[in-house]
Amino acid sequence: MKVNLDNFEMAYSEAGSGTPLLFIHGFPLSKSIWQPQLEALNTSFHVITPDLRGHGDSEAVPGPYSMELLAGDLNALLDHLGINQPVVVCGHSMGGYITFEFFRQYQQRVAGLILTATRSADDPPEGKANRDKAAQNVLQDGVSPVVEGMLPKIMSPATFDTDPELVESVKGIMMGTSIEGTVGALMAMKDRPDSTLTLEEINVPTVVLHGGEDQIIPLVEARKMAGSIQDCEFVVFDNTGHLPSLENPQRFNNVVQDFIQGL
Ligand code: MLT
Repeated sequence: MKVNLDNFEMAYSEAGSGTPLLFIHGFPLSKSIWQPQLEALNTSFHVITPDLRGHGDSEAVPGPYSMELLAGDLNALLDHLGINQPVVVCGHSMGGYITFEFFRQYQQRVAGLILTATRSADDPPEGKANRDKAAQNVLQDGVSPVVEGMLPKIMSPATFDTDPELVESVKGIMMGTSIEGTVGALMAMKDRPDSTLTLEEINVPTVVLHGGEDQIIPLVEARKMAGSIQDCEFVVFDNTGHLPSLENPQRFNNVVQDFIQGL
């Protein structure tokens, strides 16, 4: 499905009814990473999986992007869908950075948070410099350099070696991200605020769900983050990297199901 938001066309999928469950994908990915959740969880909840601007089937609008802008897009989507009830927001990696901003801006809309494969800290100086380099490479050579660099690290080594079908499918999702979206997201991540102080303000039930073999965001950071949130469950998936929703979909869905039923 598509909707015309303020200045671009956003693609999204939705299915089911009940508690609204908004999934926000990471970088440079799309709503496809939530396909196993869309299929399984729509029997219990109203599942909504948007493609962020410049990603997936959403329009490839040029930057600048910011966490505020991306969170605003999601708020506009919820308005378009007529959702008045508080929503459970599940953010993956960059989607988690957007989730923090969404919580700061639209707290009254949030019933609970699922933070997966993400971190609250902003980029250190060398991380910011790497974002600039990556954006330059993408402007010169397209998205392939980013995809080739990230693909071997985005799954656990075991998943990467034993599941070529998943590797190909994730590669296809990444390659489908527009140059505008890739550069826009890189710059938005580079300039994102530090959300560490936001952790203490989170007053809704939260789950932090992390892969034990995440090579992009170390487990130790997720554990610390979970410890700073008042009402937070911390779940670690063994043999799982940076993509728990795809590497371990059944278990992921069980955690989400139990969490929302307990709200
Ligand atoms: C993501 O998976 O969204 C990104 O790897 C996050 C990041 O680069 O900070």
